[in-house]
Amino acid sequence: MKRVMVLTGGGDCPGLNAVIRAIVKRASQETDWEVLGSIKAFDGILNEPTELMILDSEKVAGIHYQGGTIIQTTNKGGPYAWPVKNKKGEWEYVDRSDEMIRKMSYLGIDAVISIGGDGSQRISQRLFKQGLNIIGVPKTIDNDLSATDSTFGFQTAIEIATEAVDKLVTTAASHNRVFILEVMGRDAGWIALNAAVAGGAEICLIPEIPYDTNEVLSKVNARFHKGRGFAIIVIAEGAKPKDGEIIGEKSTEVGYEHVRLGGIGFKLEDDLKTLGCEHDIRVTVLGHLQRGGVPIAYDRVLASQFGVKAFEMVLNEEFGRMVSYNHPYITSVTLEDAIQKPNLVTLDTALMKTARGLGISFGNDQIALEE
Ligand code: F6P
Repeated sequence: MKRVMVLTGGGDCPGLNAVIRAIVKRASQETDWEVLGSIKAFDGILNEPTELMILDSEKVAGIHYQGGTIIQTTNKGGPYAWPVKNKKGEWEYVDRSDEMIRKMSYLGIDAVISIGGDGSQRISQRLFKQGLNIIGVPKTIDNDLSATDSTFGFQTAIEIATEAVDKLVTTAASHNRVFILEVMGRDAGWIALNAAVAGGAEICLIPEIPYDTNEVLSKVNARFHKGRGFAIIVIAEGAKPKDGEIIGEKSTEVGYEHVRLGGIGFKLEDDLKTLGCEHDIRVTVLGHLQRGGVPIAYDRVLASQFGVKAFEMVLNEEFGRMVSYNHPYITSVTLEDAIQKPNLVTLDTALMKTARGLGISFGNDQIALEE
């Protein structure tokens, strides 16, 4: 019997269970393969006792529409930065990758499928270089991986953010208010841009285009002068003013390396007020609602395609590669290429042009001149 170990790493994302199910369903068509799930990314294999789960047809039945991941996930620690307390009681981070690879070999694990975002793919690439038979599957609601046309979970997040804009429009119009909706995306403005276009927002502020708060205020005022007595601003969590910084805080959670973004919506409210905005402003931070719950059909389909492809890559021994969507094909790229550069919004992005054609302001008219 051959064994493939599946894991989900990084933040969860709608569609993870559909990938797991697809891997198991495709593997069950072969007579000699068993699928194991490592609980909480690589923690399951690193922990003592080992936390692995046999993933068979029964375990994955009907999970394609469930949010989250049945094998759990983590965006802390990992094989290269495993937290341990030293004698002084302080946390230190140790490299357990060699030991982990040896353990997998001892357990008869022939291949690994790692479903994760850019951080997870970086880990996969390092492990591949150390000799592990590993395949990556891209996931993220942020859509910030450039080696694939799209990632699953992204469209579900857009759907949720758009629904939020639709809801805020009705309350904003009723009260003649300015509403600021803060959405996720880390360094990428994709969720904000899509939700702004789909929801008909007036202003969209994204990390790729630092904004001028005076321009934002002018746009808000112009909108009220026109007689449209409300305004919707969609702002990405990683956005920042031209002369300012990203708003976030270093986490105290052990093994959590990222800066926790959040709060730029409230900063914008304060700044608009300081500049004399006379309209009432309310801020909504959508947060993890964008990652929770049922994946929409598009994401279930893409996730299923990724899962089947990943297992077929195991069969073909195409290790060191990541599954990729290259419309209309599901193909693959080397992990090396997959981690080269992030997928960020650029001025020549078709949707960016559409947004500007619709009159959406990015709080920085200068961008028109720079083209
Ligand atoms: O990368 C996905 C994402 O949801 C980002 O959009 C967000 O900044 C981050 O994860 C939040 O991470 P956590 O779940 O650790 O708070």
